[in-house]
Amino acid sequence: MMNHRVENSRRNFLLTTARGIAGLAAAGTLPARVLAQSAGGPALSISTIGAGREGGALGALFVKAGHRVMFSSRHPDTLKGLVDELGPFARAGTVAEAVEFGDVVMVVVPYPAMEQIGKDYGNALAKKVLVIDVSNPIERRDGAQIVKWVDEQGGAGLTTAKLLPGAHIVRAFNAINYAKLSADAHRQGELVGVPIAGDDPHALNIASSLIREIGFDPVIIGGSAMGKYLVPGTPLGGELTAAEIRQIVTNLH
Ligand SMILES: NC(=O)c1ccc[n+]([C@@H]2O[C@H](COP(=O)([O-])OP(=O)(O)OC[C@H]3O[C@@H](n4cnc5c(N)ncnc54)[C@H](OP(=O)(O)O)[C@@H]3O)[C@@H](O)[C@H]2O)c1
Repeated sequence: MMNHRVENSRRNFLLTTARGIAGLAAAGTLPARVLAQSAGGPALSISTIGAGREGGALGALFVKAGHRVMFSSRHPDTLKGLVDELGPFARAGTVAEAVEFGDVVMVVVPYPAMEQIGKDYGNALAKKVLVIDVSNPIERRDGAQIVKWVDEQGGAGLTTAKLLPGAHIVRAFNAINYAKLSADAHRQGELVGVPIAGDDPHALNIASSLIREIGFDPVIIGGSAMGKYLVPGTPLGGELTAAEIRQIVTNLH
C-alpha cells in the first residue's frame, strides 16, 4: 500500500515530467502505459539489467518508493531471495524479460558487458524513455585495455552512448557505494546529492524526479561528455551534497 509521501512524490514526478511526456507522445514514441501515468495512473515499471550489489540495492529503493521493479540476471532463479524479501512490487526475470518490462531500464553491469547488451538489446533500449547507466569501467575488475578504450572514446558517458545508440541515457549513482545507498536515502538534514549527466532533457527530468523519489538530490552536471567524471575516483565520487557537487563542477570545466 502506498503511503501519502509516496503518492505526493509521484504526483510531483508526473507534474515534472508531464511536458516531456507530452512531447514524446506527440512524437509517437511513448507506450500507452506511460501516458496513463501522466494522468495519475499506476507507478512506473523499472528494470535492472544487473541485479548484483549496486543494481539490487538501487532496485530495492525503487520498490520501496512504490514502483514495480523487475530485477534481471542471466540466472533469474538466483534472485528469488531478493524479490521475495522485497514483496509484490518486485519480480525477477531474464535480461530479455527485463528489457521488455521496463519503461525505465537501469544498466548496472561490469562495463565489458555493455557492448553485448548494446548488440542484443540496443534497439529495444532506444525506445525507452530513460536508460540509467550506473556502470563503470574499472581497471582492477575489467582490465586496463577497456579502461584505455573508454578514455579514447571520451569517457564513460560518450562510450555508453556509442554502445547503446539512440538510447536516452543518464549516468547516475556511478560512485555511490551499494552499501551506503539504503542509509543515504532520505538522509536527515541535507540530502546526499547525485550528479547526473545526459543529453536528453526529458530523460534528465525523469531521472531527476526518480532520484528525488528515492531520497536523493539530483544535480545535472552536463551532457554525456561530462559522464567521464561520473566514475569512482574522480572529485565527484562518494557522498556529497548538491552544493558541494555544484562547487566541484565549476572547477571541472
Ligand atoms: N558495487 C558498488 O558499490 C557500485 C557503485 C556504483 C556503481 N557500480 C557499478 O555498477 C556495476 C555493477 O557493479 P556491482 O558491484 O553491482 O557488480 P556485481 O555485484 O558483480 O553484479 C553484477 C551484475 O551484472 C550482471 N551481469 C554481468 N554480466 C552481464 C551480462 N553480460 N549481461 C547481463 N548482466 C550481466 C550480473 O548478473 P548475472 O546474475 O547474470 O551474473 C550481476 O547481476 C559496475 O559497473 C560497477 O562499477 C557499483
